[in-house]
Amino acid sequence: MKTVAHLSDLHFGRTDAVVVAGLLDDLHAEQPDLIVISGDFTQSARQREFRAAYRFLRRLPAPILAVPGNHDVPPADLLLRFLAPFARYRYWVNNELCPFVETDAMAVLGINTARRARLGLNWAEGSISRAQIEMVQRRFDAVDPAKLRILVAHHPFVAPPGAPRTTVARRADSALPVFADIGIDLLLAGHLHRGWSVKAAAHIEHALLVVQAATATSTRLRDEPNSYNVLLLEKERIGVRVRAWHGDRFEAVGTAWFARTSRGDGWIRSNFSAR
Ligand SMILES: [Fe+2]
Ligand SMILES: [Fe+2]
Repeated sequence: MKTVAHLSDLHFGRTDAVVVAGLLDDLHAEQPDLIVISGDFTQSARQREFRAAYRFLRRLPAPILAVPGNHDVPPADLLLRFLAPFARYRYWVNNELCPFVETDAMAVLGINTARRARLGLNWAEGSISRAQIEMVQRRFDAVDPAKLRILVAHHPFVAPPGAPRTTVARRADSALPVFADIGIDLLLAGHLHRGWSVKAAAHIEHALLVVQAATATSTRLRDEPNSYNVLLLEKERIGVRVRAWHGDRFEAVGTAWFARTSRGDGWIRSNFSAR
């Protein structure tokens, strides 16, 4: 079995140092094969916030696949925002905004859904371009069908259960059928700072397993503790385990299991376990 830790919305600049240290301890104990971070490394894209994020990243115990979030684009420095919106992210986190990692068991692609501006709209909202949808198709065309296919974005493409009016990434409606068609197994996102309960963290949409991570370390909480997910990846089943902050450490609060359909064309909910 392979494991992937899915962290999101770290928000350095507005973090609790005890939680950050607890997260590092927990990840060292969990020893995941890969750590996916779905954006919002900083609160306001300041140099010192990115420096703190960089120090954290250097201490992680596994390879990292990251995408930027809306908070990683400088909000106030308009010149920087428009001329080089991702310059600081590229310098401190990763020069590649849509990274791709392939191992013997899985292929993982990040999509940058953060934008410098959106005409007449809330700049915090995300988008996938037509070119990016084609890029996703091209990337996975070349991947062995036996490998798990995982997509990572900061902005959700699907509204979580119980919050159907949540704003999703622009063109999500066009992207989702394409993702299903090319056999994407898992779609990971953050941004909402919600998803610590096992039921909220994972659900099925278009036969895709959609996983939402809450904020791992930010003090900007929305009635939920800090948490992150550990994905337990087997060939015919996937577990989404939520590990939440319990005042002095992260602890598993439960695992939602999903099984591959008998036709092999998607996933169905299987069972919950308490740990
Ligand atoms: Fe965030
Ligand atoms: Fe965000």
